[in-house]
Amino acid sequence: MYLDNAATTYPKPDSVYERVLHTMREVGGSPGRGGHRRSLEGGRLLFQAREAVADFFAISDSSRVLFTHNATEALNVALHGVLVPGDHVITTSMEHNSLLRPLNSLAATGVEVTIVPAAANGVVSVEDIRRALRPQTRMIAVSHVSNVCGAIQPLAELAEVSRAAGTFFLVDGAQSAGYLPLDVTRLGIDLLAVPGHKGLLGPVGTGFLYVAPSVSLRPLLQGGTGTNSTELNQPLVMPDGFEAGTHNLPGIVGLQAGLDFILNRGITALHDHKQALLCQAQQALSRIPGVTIHGPADPAERCAVLSFSVAGVDGSRLATELDQDYDIAVRAGLHCAPLAHGTLGTFPAGTLRISPGWSTTGEEIAFFSDAVVQCLAKF
Ligand SMILES: Cc1ncc(COP(=O)(O)O)c(C=O)c1O
Repeated sequence: MYLDNAATTYPKPDSVYERVLHTMREVGGSPGRGGHRRSLEGGRLLFQAREAVADFFAISDSSRVLFTHNATEALNVALHGVLVPGDHVITTSMEHNSLLRPLNSLAATGVEVTIVPAAANGVVSVEDIRRALRPQTRMIAVSHVSNVCGAIQPLAELAEVSRAAGTFFLVDGAQSAGYLPLDVTRLGIDLLAVPGHKGLLGPVGTGFLYVAPSVSLRPLLQGGTGTNSTELNQPLVMPDGFEAGTHNLPGIVGLQAGLDFILNRGITALHDHKQALLCQAQQALSRIPGVTIHGPADPAERCAVLSFSVAGVDGSRLATELDQDYDIAVRAGLHCAPLAHGTLGTFPAGTLRISPGWSTTGEEIAFFSDAVVQCLAKF
């Protein structure tokens, strides 16, 4: 039983596997890297996938969707591509290391970083973010949903603060894309970093960064783009200049199949299904003596994951028992977000995290909570 969909979703819908295999077997060519049939077909598929991503997130110009290999790369392109020494960035204590570490490395070059602590339930105060603004603030960078406790941040209000202050608004959509509807245009998001392999149900090795027309970006990588080949300078045309090197076309086509699957089932129906499973798990776990559930008490204020700890019990040991004796995959530890545990009061032990997927059933959640009880009885 796989309850670690927040790391990467498994299984993928059959159509994802089929499209990946079909692209590898039957298409084969590298998009934009030749005039032959296979390269042209690859280019057509790449364009279609870019358009599908743009439609899904209400992005009006698909050329501003830059394919990456995961959310980490998208965040690095956004942060290193925009910030310069002297800039000030506001972020939160709930962030993943894929945002905190590039920021920390930029801080060594003279970028100033303010980390606003969230409340003990993981939700960030809009007022605290507003108070952290300075004249040099260039960017507000937040994750939409915490990968540790599932807290949903007040994105629309934060976007409003950013717009009023004239700063760029960078959203890490790693745990919300495919879970919650995200309308980039309506919210006024300037930069959106998304993995393709989590809630969007695509293969690993996929992701993207959306860059609003107001943002001018420096490319992180230089290399072949299949365009402007006489120029030794990296072209700055979007998307080519920011996608140097051969694309992961099978993965990107598989990502489009993931989007199609979500559109067919309905993002709300899928969300409701996973929320019901999380509520079921929460109710069952909270009946177990010593269990603390972390994050907002109201299930409507969180999604994607449920984190808990058991007094006096080593979470890693419990996760190992669940894996070895019951074949249940959960995640224990810090989930690559150390500061979030300071906020939630779970540092340094971390938490146990479950994250059901589109194919998880209520029977599986019942089996999981029974297995927790049985494991604890043995400790
Ligand atoms: C909130 C958050 N941001 C960023 C990432 C990094 O995503 P990726 O593994 O696609 O680089 C993760 C991964 O778990 C995450 O949960």
